[in-house]
Amino acid sequence: MNSAGVSTPCSALLLFGATGDLAKRMLLPSIFALHEDGLIAADLRIVGTARSELSDEEYRSLAEEALAEYLPDDRRGNGQLQTFLDRLSYHPLDASQADGFGGLAEKLGDISGGLSIFLSTAPSLFEATIEGLKSAGLTGKNVRIGLEKPLGNNLATSDVINDAVAEAYSEEQTFRIDHYLGKETVQNLMALRFANMMFEPLWNSGGIDHIEITVSETVGLEGRHGFYDDTGALRDMVQNHMLQLLALTAMEAPANLDATSVRDEKVKVLRSLRPVTADEMVRGQYGDGAVKGEAVNGYTDDLDQVSGTETFVAIKAHIDNWRWKDVPFYLRTGKRLSERRSEIVIQFKSVPHNIFAERGGKLHANKLVIRLQPEEYVRLQVMAKEPGLDRDGVTLRDVPLDLSLSQAFSKSRNRIAYERLLLDLIEGDPTLFVRRDEVEAQWRWVDAIREVWDENDMKPKPYGSGSWGPSAAIALTERDGVSWHE
Ligand code: BG6
Repeated sequence: MNSAGVSTPCSALLLFGATGDLAKRMLLPSIFALHEDGLIAADLRIVGTARSELSDEEYRSLAEEALAEYLPDDRRGNGQLQTFLDRLSYHPLDASQADGFGGLAEKLGDISGGLSIFLSTAPSLFEATIEGLKSAGLTGKNVRIGLEKPLGNNLATSDVINDAVAEAYSEEQTFRIDHYLGKETVQNLMALRFANMMFEPLWNSGGIDHIEITVSETVGLEGRHGFYDDTGALRDMVQNHMLQLLALTAMEAPANLDATSVRDEKVKVLRSLRPVTADEMVRGQYGDGAVKGEAVNGYTDDLDQVSGTETFVAIKAHIDNWRWKDVPFYLRTGKRLSERRSEIVIQFKSVPHNIFAERGGKLHANKLVIRLQPEEYVRLQVMAKEPGLDRDGVTLRDVPLDLSLSQAFSKSRNRIAYERLLLDLIEGDPTLFVRRDEVEAQWRWVDAIREVWDENDMKPKPYGSGSWGPSAAIALTERDGVSWHE
């Protein structure tokens, strides 16, 4: 039974890219965790496929090594390894050759009990893979397909992929992955907003001055040179993760938690995004510097060539609807920044009148900080009076009202985002997957940004590794009298 209350069983899981980095770091450890907790049916078979010529036994060894390396500490040594490995088998496949898919279907055997496919592949192999799956009959009503990014790099190329998929699978069978939606803290955004009375009445232009969304990373290219240089921060992080965070922060209350209701509300926000002008954004590229005390190279040294790709972007966005009139959303993301941090900061408006002013009391407007990672907390800055007899006036200070989610739920397991997403894929609950109209709205906005860059010849500005990005990103908010929350 999935969280939507619908039971749509599936008796086989087919993993493309089964020998790749994502499979080793995330997918295998996630499925193992689900297996260990008894969350997947005992008869669910898992078939891996990739180009490497491996036997079933060799694949099981590869999986065992990956688990030894990437399994979180609290998951080790619980005696479930062998039963997990027994579920695995492997079929080598060159996805560019349609005739190989017959063998894959044979390996899968009877899929009348339902098949879930997890597809992460190079964009160049996408259409051939869908074609191959179709020709081998791996497309019936009881098959669903999870699609990992990159799914194109603009609206046109994403349409080509989505059209190719639509030839073989209906939208209901198509599960587009944005791993941020699998993160517990991201889902918690909805709980914070819609399970509490106190925030929602102020959650609009009447109560909020502006919102900041930061997703900063300390890592650089991490060996993904070709992909990253063709992609850049805007398409790698803003088009998907940051816009999903923005949509969840800004959407109206959905009718309930079903996939249609939630996604209907998100897409309305995404469609209301105003096109961004040149003076509302900053591109950056990291240079030399030090991150966490360690000297690191600049981007072009990491890449070993000159490049015009941005590794940082800051945007002042607007949502043109009633709720968010005149409330800027400042977004920033980048690599090799000062610290790893994903957070949403809600800056409320000031009180209409300061009754403490004559006694010297200065007020700061309330601020709600929702930290998604690495720590998980919600912190509300509220004004309080400093203790004292106030002979020389009243001193007010903002003090945090802290809700540490990691502490409050210290007994719950910290799950990898892919655990949730794979389980939902296996059970057929699409709520946390991205619908085609959302992806289209995201690309439309991002493509228009790239056009503005081209028209204005906007090149990335250099910033030192270990900083918070180019100084222009600071100026972007400061000229509105706003400072980034740091
Ligand atoms: C991926 C991007 O989608 O998200 C990476 O391609 C980025 O460049 C990663 O590092 C960040 O994810 P997380 O979960 O570590 O915040």
